[in-house]
Amino acid sequence: MTKGLRSRLAQYGDEEFALFLRRGFLKGAGYTDDALQRPIVGVLSTASDFNPCHATAGRLAESVARGVRMAGALPFVFPTISLHEAFTFPTSMLLRNLMAIDVEEMLRALPLDAVVLIGGCDKTIPAELMGAISANVPAIVLPVGAMLAGRHEGARLGACTDCRRLWAAYRAGTLDGDELNRAHDQLMPTAGTCMVMGTASTMACIAETLGFTLPGAATAPAVSSERTRLAEATGARAAQMASAGGPLPRDILSRAALRNASVILQTTSGSTNALVHLAAIAGRAGIAYDLLEFDRIGRGVPVLVNLKPAGAYFIEDFHAAGGVPAVWRRLRDKLDLSAPTVSGESLGEIMARWPAYTDDEVIRPLDRPIYPAQAIAILTGNLAPNGAAIKLASATEKLTTHEGPALVFDSLEDLAARIDDPSLPVTPEHCLVLRNAGPIGAPGMPEAGALPIPKQLGAKGVTDMVRISDARMSGTAFGTVVLHVSPEAAAGGPLALVRDGDVIRLDARARRLDLIVDDAELQRRRGGWEAPARPARGYAKLYVEHVTQADQGCDFDFLAGVV
Ligand code: FES
Repeated sequence: MTKGLRSRLAQYGDEEFALFLRRGFLKGAGYTDDALQRPIVGVLSTASDFNPCHATAGRLAESVARGVRMAGALPFVFPTISLHEAFTFPTSMLLRNLMAIDVEEMLRALPLDAVVLIGGCDKTIPAELMGAISANVPAIVLPVGAMLAGRHEGARLGACTDCRRLWAAYRAGTLDGDELNRAHDQLMPTAGTCMVMGTASTMACIAETLGFTLPGAATAPAVSSERTRLAEATGARAAQMASAGGPLPRDILSRAALRNASVILQTTSGSTNALVHLAAIAGRAGIAYDLLEFDRIGRGVPVLVNLKPAGAYFIEDFHAAGGVPAVWRRLRDKLDLSAPTVSGESLGEIMARWPAYTDDEVIRPLDRPIYPAQAIAILTGNLAPNGAAIKLASATEKLTTHEGPALVFDSLEDLAARIDDPSLPVTPEHCLVLRNAGPIGAPGMPEAGALPIPKQLGAKGVTDMVRISDARMSGTAFGTVVLHVSPEAAAGGPLALVRDGDVIRLDARARRLDLIVDDAELQRRRGGWEAPARPARGYAKLYVEHVTQADQGCDFDFLAGVV
């Protein structure tokens, strides 16, 4: 196979001339002939001033490059689209596929023999894995790492579980503006990704369990010297992979690896967003990620990792407690330990050499879980024929079996306009329904599924209600929230047919979500249904015409599978 600068030459109809030009430009940049003989490692940097979670990405890229050089290869740092949750309108999920395309096409276009993918904030690692699996060049992920926990007046604070808690207290009038501002200064006290088990940490732990990082890379804090050393080691390993020509992403991603990831998602009580990302990542390798199998695997997996929002601790504590390999050891009977990793070792080999110390308070033993059952369940029923998700570990137990009248919001705008209206006819028994907030409907399936409790009920002390939508929810959120209803309303799913007052039955134990309206009436309503207007131009038009439903990962239909 052609390697180094000779690979992927620009097509001038004369390959030697193309190489002559390429080498000439690099000589112009100061490279010697010796350097130009080396294998090349691309270092994909997501550094961006618009992505404060990745404020350390530039320095990490330098450390990766040092490791690449120490191992005898030549590093080339290059940029890609960088997505931050709070800086991307209307939602970063709309742009995940664009970033995945950017990653895939640059890996296909550039003369690199291996690549280090520096990512972290929620959509970045999924997009990088999707692109790398499709391009199938040797790839290793380096998460930027999580922030340290904040400290405020005797309490430890975590973004963004405590962002939500403090904001809710401010809204309810139990916290004044001055105190909110003082806490605000400590909510994100360092660079790095959110330090609770939100989507970024979930996807980092999943990347490590799938085998795409060096061990420990999911959890070492962003601002630690250990993270810098991991960057150097990642660069050195990538240089070896460049010389060896592997392992390739599709050697690493297998059905067994995906089952291992499902176990980790459950036992960390990770973000429900990971379900969508795992389906998309698997789809790039031509593997259907089966949500019902995910549910079955979860039935024997309690929540052992005691991190916010389900538990009490933060990522830095998880790392000090033993990190992801210590969790593998706890759940060794549930995992396929023969699964390979980019390090060259199997999961089992890493586990065997990993320090024996485990902090039992942060990574609980099986007989003392923080939640005794699976964290996330998959529901089906006439309201969600292709599935919906509920995070049981964050729900109110008694609401997980509930029958109540629907109160329907037709869109995000309708929700914003009416939810705090004092005359809203709502009771604590209502099921709040939000539709047209799915992949096509919003578009981009924003994290709007944890609908706010109507102010009039919040004032009476109501803290949770059954909420149902075709949207997603932040990994840092909580409540009895049914998400990812598929097919979504804008695609003609049954959610589009619900009317105010219809009875909805949620029975999470039986894994059912049903609309108690007879089929003939639903057929009649379907006859009068009209699809909402769709974007007419640009990327949003491409998106709504090709995005798949939540159960298939919301990837573009023309990008799934292997050619
Ligand atoms: Fe970037 Fe939470 S906003 S990880």
